[in-house]
Amino acid sequence: MGFFDEPYDLLTPPDDGRVEGIYKVTGKGKYAAEYKANNLCYAVLAGSTVAAGTIKNINLGNARQVAGVLDIITHQHKPLVPGLSDENKIKEARFGLPVFHTDKIYFKGQPIAMVIAETLEDATYAASLIEAQYDTENFTVDFDKAQAAVPLASTGKERGSLNAWSNAPYMVEAEYTIKAEVHHPMEMHATIAEWTGTDTLKLYDKNQGVNNVQRTFARLFAIPEKNIEVTSEYVGGGFGSGLRVWPHALATIMAAKQVNRPVKLMLTRQQMFNSVGYRPASWQKIKLGATADGKLAGILHQSKNGTSRYENFNEGITRVTRLIYNFENLKTDAAVVPLNLSTPTWMRGPGDCTGDFAVESAIDEISYQVKMDPVVLRLKNLALDKNPETGLPWSTNYINECIEKGAAMINWQERKTEPGLLTDGDWSTGYGMAVGMWNAGRGNASAAMQLLKDGSLTVQTAMTDIGTGTGTSMQNIAHDITGITKSKIKIELGNSNLPPAPSQGGSNGLSSISGAVVAAGNALKLKLAEYAAKENAVFKDAKATDIILSDTGIAYQSSNNQFVSYNTIWNKNNLQVLEVEASSGPGAERQQYSFCSSAAHFCKLKVNRKTGKVKIEKMVAVADGGKIVSEKAAANQMSGAAVGGIGMALLEELITDERLGGLVGDDLAGYHFAVNADAPMIDIAFIGKPDVNINPTGSKGLGEVGIIGVAAAISNAIYNAIGKRLRDLPITPDKIL
Ligand code: MOS
Repeated sequence: MGFFDEPYDLLTPPDDGRVEGIYKVTGKGKYAAEYKANNLCYAVLAGSTVAAGTIKNINLGNARQVAGVLDIITHQHKPLVPGLSDENKIKEARFGLPVFHTDKIYFKGQPIAMVIAETLEDATYAASLIEAQYDTENFTVDFDKAQAAVPLASTGKERGSLNAWSNAPYMVEAEYTIKAEVHHPMEMHATIAEWTGTDTLKLYDKNQGVNNVQRTFARLFAIPEKNIEVTSEYVGGGFGSGLRVWPHALATIMAAKQVNRPVKLMLTRQQMFNSVGYRPASWQKIKLGATADGKLAGILHQSKNGTSRYENFNEGITRVTRLIYNFENLKTDAAVVPLNLSTPTWMRGPGDCTGDFAVESAIDEISYQVKMDPVVLRLKNLALDKNPETGLPWSTNYINECIEKGAAMINWQERKTEPGLLTDGDWSTGYGMAVGMWNAGRGNASAAMQLLKDGSLTVQTAMTDIGTGTGTSMQNIAHDITGITKSKIKIELGNSNLPPAPSQGGSNGLSSISGAVVAAGNALKLKLAEYAAKENAVFKDAKATDIILSDTGIAYQSSNNQFVSYNTIWNKNNLQVLEVEASSGPGAERQQYSFCSSAAHFCKLKVNRKTGKVKIEKMVAVADGGKIVSEKAAANQMSGAAVGGIGMALLEELITDERLGGLVGDDLAGYHFAVNADAPMIDIAFIGKPDVNINPTGSKGLGEVGIIGVAAAISNAIYNAIGKRLRDLPITPDKIL
């Protein structure tokens, strides 16, 4: 089966340090809240103390008396936002929470006022003095209680017979629940807003897509997009929390308008719990059947996820179920459950991560019934030829190779086929695995290049780098396509004045921008060839592939490397800078093929049967992300996602308080995620085969598949260790005992 291929060796990574590394570690790189503006003042939000109702009265008297307070925005006192000026416009805007444009309270902590003051301290103190009276209403924040009453609806075409799972000789029927989780990037969300004229706006904002922010506020304030400059050059992690434009950013822009000065708002860590989305709580039910030879006979997958009272956020939990395996018989249903909480959003591996936990747990469970190794059972049921949902052939799908390689790396043959057989005192050891898959998408992106006479090249795009290594990968691609030395290639990104690009998210970033960098590199070579042709006719009808650039000039590769120097070209044509811009995006290949990234996750852990402590000893992740453009950055993406998956499996839960309607333990002491002590050695490997159809570099995204499957691999390993099937995340010690 090829289990014993040499694992990819990450101990000797090539020298590809991050382009922004020095800037980050020396503090030279600026995050949104670190920019300076003349005459800057500070804003602080005050939140509702009830979870549902209507504001009757807000008492601002005490707050107004605090020295340094410039103004206080409420729903009754605010500047005009043309896009939210009446009920219809609010509906059309689809902005989410119409902050300061309603007296309705949908969740506890919802902003009801924003203090603008000379200092952060003044604003914070004044905000603490604001009191309000409400007409309160009934509320619920308890997902488990609320979900039972919500009816399901189909999420796609049914396949085959709906009784196939229950007619099969082996069957699993089980429910799975996952508590809500919060992104919590290291950097808090922050906005500095400055109106530089009556209709020109400058924003330093933490987000995952500057063009999205620009578009949103151009619409809301009815000004041309080009009048808004958004900078998000350094981002201290996003995980999806920066893919939407949130109320706090709008509020800051309103504040800047109100006081006609630049205003800075940084959310507090506590506000990060209810201001920028979270992975919603979920309920799932699986009915899965299998035959004696390990063929998956059919599946019913039902899911529900929490949402807010003012928006429907459907996670797409059952999408992954329709993708990985050859289910000839399948039905998937979903529903959203309104709660008095803020709206959830995409969080690393959104939907698929949740759905995959249930499906991959059920498949593991049925493998014990059939008495077939879960690796073998999975390999038997993969949909390797075509996407079972669209019927289109996969452009590339190496999920089987991920499984085989991962099994070899974790020494899967050491696993016992019955649970509870590997013990040492109070500890039991277990092995588990699961797979994940993600539709590999791609958007339209643009990049510009500027070449100077000294051979230094600048590559620009508006795309943000949320910490994934996009800039480093762009440098690698620009080097590969042009030939110019890496150290002479400078990367500029995260500003809306640069060539437009999609938001970085959904594992689309590299796949989108890589095409644009290749296109710009080719355009640069052809433009140089035009100039070179004036000196040497060999360049006349040169194709981009005939040409290689160096730090000093342009050479014709297929004709003895005939050479024209930049010096000659610049001097003779009186050039300052040679500039090109090019775009690239999806095309006809999308009608011909389906595209996926995938990963196999393996876990070896031990469980203390007396204390319920889980100690993960080793994690292995093998991913098919097409060609790997930057190995260090890619491996870092994967191991970071695995740590996120450990948090999801064992630690993370957003706890709600049904009595008062708020959150409990909403700080980093109360909300636990995996830290170094919780994370073991994580071995990462890649299949590394380019997908020649997806984009010119052959690279597919990795961000999501790094986490999809991790929680199931851990939970399956716990079963293998102690024989207890746990279907409620996080698996805290009390559930193990
Ligand atoms: Mo993400 S949920 O791809 O930022």
